[in-house]
Amino acid sequence: MSAIRSVVRGVGSYLPARCLTNADLAQMVDTSDEWIVQRTGIRTRHIAAEGEVTSDLAIHAARAALADAGLTPDDIDLIVLATSTPDNTFPATAVSVQAGLGITHGAAFDLQAVCSGFVFALATADNFLKTGAYRRCLVIGAETFSRILDWSDRTTCVLFGDGAGALVLEAVRDEEEGRGVLTSHLRSDGRHKNKLYVDGGVSSTRSVGFLRMEGREVFRHAVGMITDVIVDAFEATGESADTIDWFVPHQANRRIIDASAVKLGIAPEKVVITVDQHGNTSAASIPLALAAAHADGRIKRGDLVLLEAMGGGFTWASALVRW
Ligand code: ACO
Repeated sequence: MSAIRSVVRGVGSYLPARCLTNADLAQMVDTSDEWIVQRTGIRTRHIAAEGEVTSDLAIHAARAALADAGLTPDDIDLIVLATSTPDNTFPATAVSVQAGLGITHGAAFDLQAVCSGFVFALATADNFLKTGAYRRCLVIGAETFSRILDWSDRTTCVLFGDGAGALVLEAVRDEEEGRGVLTSHLRSDGRHKNKLYVDGGVSSTRSVGFLRMEGREVFRHAVGMITDVIVDAFEATGESADTIDWFVPHQANRRIIDASAVKLGIAPEKVVITVDQHGNTSAASIPLALAAAHADGRIKRGDLVLLEAMGGGFTWASALVRW
């Protein structure tokens, strides 16, 4: 039987209008632009407006991705939405996106793997498409992390932002140019679950809670985990740091990104960086970066794009996509 590939047809993103700069944060907590830039590379981040929820951001991003693909909502039969900041405990934010787009067929569900969520969602969608069960999928990362930040805690509130990004993936039989998702590798290790977590939840505190993080511990593990799972992707495909065109990492921290690229031997000019403008938008960061690099003409049809993420759980993941 001929093989099915999941091919990227379109990409889109959305950022809330309000920008919060490091100077703004210095008015709120004991911090400075110099400290934040030097430790993280972040200069500004976007914050959702009062009443603007995760599904609102996701719908904007999905519409942009559909427009980029030249498709309509009717063409979509699967939505996989990665988020750790859903609109409600249930139903899934994905069904609000489905309804918002006017789609009444197919399926929509959420997936939670914190900052690795988008790569987990991409791999999940890819596997559904490859079985032939669905034809076209919106893979979305959308977050309103501003709602789970303790705005009096300078060690976390300076790091995160809100946003959404989406890809349209299409199942293509006998793809002749070798395009599509080539491989994906997902990992987790729950022994680290208390190093980056939210201190509330439905079943534990009946509340939402705030993000808590042992920043140094996250940093200590990040580069090793990221590089391990990228080596898995290279070994599975025969590709390498030399053959990839673009490295689009999760945008948590400029130092983690730079150290990972150096360890892997990836040339700096291949690295897509948006953390300076967006902060860490968790599951949204990779599709936001993909959308930026696609829109400005860097990522082109046929390019080999390496994705990686690492986050709470810990979870970590990589994927190689021929664009
Ligand atoms: N402004 C000024 N000073 C600060 C701030 C701030 N915003 N935050 C912490 N400090 C202070 C600390 O209180 C400490 O002061 P002390 O020495 O008087 O005790 C000092 O700065 C150093 O604190 P550290 O936590 O040791 O700083 P570090 O160099 O480790 O940088 C950071 C902190 C940026 C959080 C870093 O550990 C990091 O990037 N970790 C990775 C975390 C991450 O990226 N998480 C995202 C989610 S996971 C993921 O997506 C990969």
